Amino acid sequence: MEHIIRQYTLEPGALEAQYIEEYFTEFRKKKTAEEIIARLKDREHLILLSMAEDDDGVLIPVAYKIGHELKLQETSIKLSELVSELRDIVEFRNRKIFYSWIGGTRQKWRGQGRYRALTEQQEEWAHAHGFHELVVKTKNKFYPMRATLDHLNFDVIKFQRHLRDNRESKVYLSKKIAAEVLGKHQTTRSVVQAA
Ligand SMILES: CC(C)(COP(=O)(O)OP(=O)(O)OC[C@H]1O[C@@H](n2cnc3c(N)ncnc32)[C@H](O)[C@@H]1OP(=O)(O)O)[C@@H](O)C(=O)NCCC(=O)NCCS
Repeated sequence: MEHIIRQYTLEPGALEAQYIEEYFTEFRKKKTAEEIIARLKDREHLILLSMAEDDDGVLIPVAYKIGHELKLQETSIKLSELVSELRDIVEFRNRKIFYSWIGGTRQKWRGQGRYRALTEQQEEWAHAHGFHELVVKTKNKFYPMRATLDHLNFDVIKFQRHLRDNRESKVYLSKKIAAEVLGKHQTTRSVVQAA
């Protein structure tokens, strides 16, 4: 199967992400386009959507993945907190770190390799843009995501225990991006630039 992936510019991509998140029951707090734009606008970022035909043969987005550059000196509270969790385990100096922020596949289209395709495309783009490492954060309770990240060869780099509910504990993972990683990619993708 050839995966059709669209790479979006900021505003239309943020709107598509807001729209697709409505379909996810897993997310308690859904991201708004405004929030996504505020996070991404002053930093290198990548918005990817995987397209599939609906019942009428129209291409619609069914999976998405958004990430951005993460620097040692972040000014927003959320990102500076993230960096302080990572700085002892991830080398930021003289290296470009890419934070794989949000993503998922709509229920009906799971198990078709779409998230693998988006992840591989993100890795290819990150490598082409000089990034050295991808970092991702999930929670203990997100079992399908943990299983997926395992299949995609992400290494656990930190476990942050939630004091009252271990299922809410945070799991940090990373993957170093080298040419040999790209050589192990499994999916066939056609990537088009959207608006
Ligand atoms: C996790 C998720 C993104 C996987 O999407 P997907 O498009 O079905 O994943 P893919 O089909 O690309 O699968 C990628 C790999 O992960 C594995 N995988 C995917 N879901 C899995 C599951 N539930 N259990 C075990 N393995 C799984 C696949 O077998 C595949 O491995 P392979 O390529 O080596 O065969 C999707 O289930 C999802 O959106 N879940 C909700 C999002 C979520 O929980 N987010 C948590 C916040 S971090």
